[in-house]
Amino acid sequence: MNRPAIRAAGLAKAYSRDGSSTTRALRGVDFSVAPGELCAVVGPSGAGKTTLLYLLGGLARPTQGEVWVGDQPLFRLDDASLSRLRNRHLGFVFQYHHLLPEFGAADNVALPLRIAGVPAGEARRRARALLESMGLGKRLGHRPGELSGGEQQRAAVARALVGDPAVVLADEPTGNLDKANSEAVFGLLRQAAREGGRAVVLVTHNADLAARADRLVRMEDGAIVP
Ligand SMILES: Nc1ncnc2c1ncn2[C@@H]1O[C@H](COP(=O)(O)OP(=O)(O)OP(=O)(O)O)[C@@H](O)[C@H]1O
Ligand SMILES: [Mg+2]
Repeated sequence: MNRPAIRAAGLAKAYSRDGSSTTRALRGVDFSVAPGELCAVVGPSGAGKTTLLYLLGGLARPTQGEVWVGDQPLFRLDDASLSRLRNRHLGFVFQYHHLLPEFGAADNVALPLRIAGVPAGEARRRARALLESMGLGKRLGHRPGELSGGEQQRAAVARALVGDPAVVLADEPTGNLDKANSEAVFGLLRQAAREGGRAVVLVTHNADLAARADRLVRMEDGAIVP
C-alpha cells in the first residue's frame, strides 16, 4: 500500500463525567487510509465512530495514541500549528452541514481559503467553479436556509474539498438525505478519492453505500472488529 495519508496508532479516548463514571469510547485503535482510498466506517450507535473521526481530525485530543497526517504527528503540534494543518490538509463534512447561516453558498465554500490567506477574488472564483461542477451554479448566493437539504450537503462537501485537502473526514454526511441526494453526496466523496487522490473516511449507517467503498471497517464497543 502507498504511504498512508492518515494513520492512527493506539488511539484511545476515555470520557469521564462528574469524576466518577468513565466511558471508554475508543480502546486503542490502529487505523490508516491510503491516498485515493475511500474507507467506510460502520457500527452500532455508541461504537466510537464519531470519536474516532474527531481524533483523526484533531478536533479532540486522545487519552492515548497518536495520529499522523502525512508525517505530521497531530497531538505534538501546538494549537496554532494544529489549526493550520486542519485548514490546509483536512476537510470535514458533518451530518448537519454546519454552513454559516448568514453567508451565501459561495462565501461559505470560500471561507477555508480566506482563512488560509487566499485573496478574496481568487477564493470566490475557486468556490464558484467547484459549486458549478457540483450542479450548484444557480445557487451561489443562496444562504443555507434557502437551499434544499441535498444542496446544503453538497455545498458542505464543496467546503471540505475547496482547499485541496489530502484527507476528507465525513460523519454520516447522508444521514438526513433521501436516496437520490445520498447517491449524489456519496458520488462526490468517491470522486474525491478516485480522481482527487484524497484519503476519504466515510462514517455511515447506510449499509448500501458502505458496501461500495474501497474498504469497510466495522467498529464495536470502541474497537475495530478484526
Ligand atoms: N463528550 C462526551 N462525554 C461523555 N461520553 C461521550 C461523549 N461523547 C461520546 N461519548 C460516549 O462515547 C461513546 C462513543 O460515542 P460516539 O459518538 O463516538 O459513537 P458513534 O459510534 O458515533 O455513535 P452514533 O452512530 O450514534 O453516532 C458513547 O458511549 C458515547 O455515549
Ligand atoms: Mg456518531
